[in-house]
Amino acid sequence: MVFDYTKLVRPNILNLEPYRCARDDFKEGILLDANENTHGPSIADLSTSEDDLQLNRYPDPHQLELKQQICNIRNQETTIQGDKIDVENLCLGVGSDESIDALMRCFLTPAKDKLLICPPTYGMYGICATINDIEIVKCPLNLENFQIQPEDILKVVQNDPTIKLLYLTSPGNPTGQLIDFTLVETILNEWEGGIVILDEAYIDFSPVGSSRSTFVNKYPNLIVLQTLSKAFGLAGIRLGITFASKPIAALLNALKYPYNISNLTSNIALRATLPENVQEMRNKCETICKERTIVIDSLTKLPNVGRVIGGLDANFILLQFLDNNGKPSNEVAKKLYTTLATENKVVIRYRGSELGCEGCLRISVGTKEENKILIEKISEVLPQVTKPSA
Ligand SMILES: Cc1ncc(COP(=O)(O)O)c(C=O)c1O
Repeated sequence: MVFDYTKLVRPNILNLEPYRCARDDFKEGILLDANENTHGPSIADLSTSEDDLQLNRYPDPHQLELKQQICNIRNQETTIQGDKIDVENLCLGVGSDESIDALMRCFLTPAKDKLLICPPTYGMYGICATINDIEIVKCPLNLENFQIQPEDILKVVQNDPTIKLLYLTSPGNPTGQLIDFTLVETILNEWEGGIVILDEAYIDFSPVGSSRSTFVNKYPNLIVLQTLSKAFGLAGIRLGITFASKPIAALLNALKYPYNISNLTSNIALRATLPENVQEMRNKCETICKERTIVIDSLTKLPNVGRVIGGLDANFILLQFLDNNGKPSNEVAKKLYTTLATENKVVIRYRGSELGCEGCLRISVGTKEENKILIEKISEVLPQVTKPSA
């Protein structure tokens, strides 16, 4: 198979001359090149550490130190020789939501090209596609095990050359199921007309070494997305990472807004990706996974609770609720969801309308105290919402 990314990129992006600033060439001295406010921020009580961030200055467009620390994390995990990545494989974004959108703008011509998703999956792929006027084609997951079905996917993409991107989520949302990478490889080895995007937002809740971010040099038709929003506990700073072959990463870096990563974000991200804090992240993930077991054990003992229908590879569970005949019930799930939120101040997510998720609620694992209250409230509310009406 010969994969040629230049055939997939939109011509206007392939020929894009990226924005350049004087500071790409000169970084030191009296900096009067960018129309910044040299008198500083107008905040009277700025702390010393905030002042150190030089918030009156535009951020570094390249973030090489941060990219190197992220590469170090993934390179250390990989057990496969030859699959090392470096800073030129990375592009950083405002959360992975920005990366999801950037990939569409890079490869898909509005009102012409299409993308493929495998429901049930993360909703933003569809929303971004609609915003970009891109048609969505669907090829469902295997609803027994929430794995992808490569033969079906290949049939679909090979019959339609306008499908240029496939968005997969591993571990899945809302499924919580890690995708078997050998299935993804079947597609990577066969499909030269498009790119597989593997969204690994929840990857650090899976066993260490599960990420395939270091495979982007081996498979130039693979792009991996990650985020600091989940395992790193930093949804508020908005930092997403795209791993791609070097030519594709260069295009994405040319396409992004030059100052998309703020000084505040990079300061925190630089600290979060230091080895000692990565270890702290792993410890927290372990605690979350233990709490997940407690939540599952307690909830699945209750009447009208079915089974966890997804995998156990993320920081949430997809739990099925049943009617009094033991059948998965959207009515029960919806009533429980609403009553918990409106009368008990416990907010979880109704997912019953998603393909293969009949009667399901998606529950994020909370702190010990939050989980205790969650379990108490569900135990209390569930009998009310399943009581046969007189
Ligand atoms: C599968 C998946 N991808 C991406 C995201 C977005 O992450 P970010 O906060 O980095 O934009 C989410 C958030 O819920 C998600 O579930």
